[in-house]
Amino acid sequence: MNAIPTRSLGASGPRTAALGLGCMGMSAGYGEEVDRAESIATIHAALDAGVTLLDTGDFYGMGHNELLIGEALRAAPAGARERALTSVKFGALRDPDNGWSGYDGRPAAVKNFAAYSLQRLGTDHIDIYRIARVDPDVPIEETVGAIAELIQAGHVRHVGLSEAGAGTIRRAAAVTPVADLQIEYSLISRGIEDEILSTVRELGIGVTAYGVLSRGLISGHFTRDRELSPTDFRAMSPRFQGENLQHNLGLVESLRKIAEQKGVSVAQIAIAWVLSRGEDIVPLVGARRRDRLTEALGALDVTLDADDLAAIERAVPSGAAAGDRYPAGQMAHLDSER
Ligand SMILES: NC(=O)c1ccc[n+]([C@@H]2O[C@H](COP(=O)([O-])OP(=O)(O)OC[C@H]3O[C@@H](n4cnc5c(N)ncnc54)[C@H](OP(=O)(O)O)[C@@H]3O)[C@@H](O)[C@H]2O)c1
Repeated sequence: MNAIPTRSLGASGPRTAALGLGCMGMSAGYGEEVDRAESIATIHAALDAGVTLLDTGDFYGMGHNELLIGEALRAAPAGARERALTSVKFGALRDPDNGWSGYDGRPAAVKNFAAYSLQRLGTDHIDIYRIARVDPDVPIEETVGAIAELIQAGHVRHVGLSEAGAGTIRRAAAVTPVADLQIEYSLISRGIEDEILSTVRELGIGVTAYGVLSRGLISGHFTRDRELSPTDFRAMSPRFQGENLQHNLGLVESLRKIAEQKGVSVAQIAIAWVLSRGEDIVPLVGARRRDRLTEALGALDVTLDADDLAAIERAVPSGAAAGDRYPAGQMAHLDSER
């Protein structure tokens, strides 16, 4: 049963439920131990509710996330499994100490990454395949060209991009149809509104928006006294530090007043705002528990009228956040920020 509205990912991409499930936090990124059974139950609950797009990366837990999704898909009812769409990022180079050592977008590497991902997912194809960060040493034409060859061979269905800037998007789209650009977009991360959003719209490319809750910061659940383990992204993220955090949580309190007036939660307002930005945008929510998923899905029932949108804009004007969205070293890898 599919009770969720659907959206198309660009002119060439698949139709998908209007919200996707980002599975990263089930394996990596947010520090604490994650309950494997609850992760799988969350994926099943999402599929059961009509969610179709499952987003992952081969480097999320060094393959752990793909194995988890593979296990969940095998245990899902056949209909849900057939409707599910996998969106996989590749190219990030890791080391055994959880470090990052760059990106590899060479054609032979693309095909090597894909071979491992297919094995871990246990599927015969990947629906959308994208390099996590543009490799500055390999022309994007070569990287997406390799994905186009994987499509020809039946291993992949669509090309995607991640955190690419306008110039790179144009070059990629000149080589092969691109279904979607995956990029951070939220009330407090609005950089794509400058140039990138108009570029993808001109080219008929959809957007899968991540970080719509800014990694939980604007979910309404994050508190100043929350202890973060050293492996938690947020322990290094500028927006979660000291005075920046205090300022940003102040924005959340302004948002909370609007949410309370509408009888919804802060997270639902934040997700509904991204949904309101255009039919070509599919937010990915990073729920890793069923209760969080239920809350996120509730955003689909929130209608924001012009007065609501104006009140939200006053509460959290563009550029209101304190601190960059990534630590400096990681900002440097973002083609979208050049
Ligand atoms: N292309 C890229 O560069 C890129 C980068 C990052 C992520 N992604 C993808 O985008 C997905 C989503 O990103 P994200 O997980 O960083 O961002 P997010 O959805 O903004 O944040 C997820 C965090 O928000 C918290 N949260 C609180 N209430 C929630 C609710 N109702 N629903 C969902 N989460 C809630 C979760 O908290 P608790 O679990 O602590 O309760 C979790 O820590 C990832 O899973 C990944 O697939 C892509």
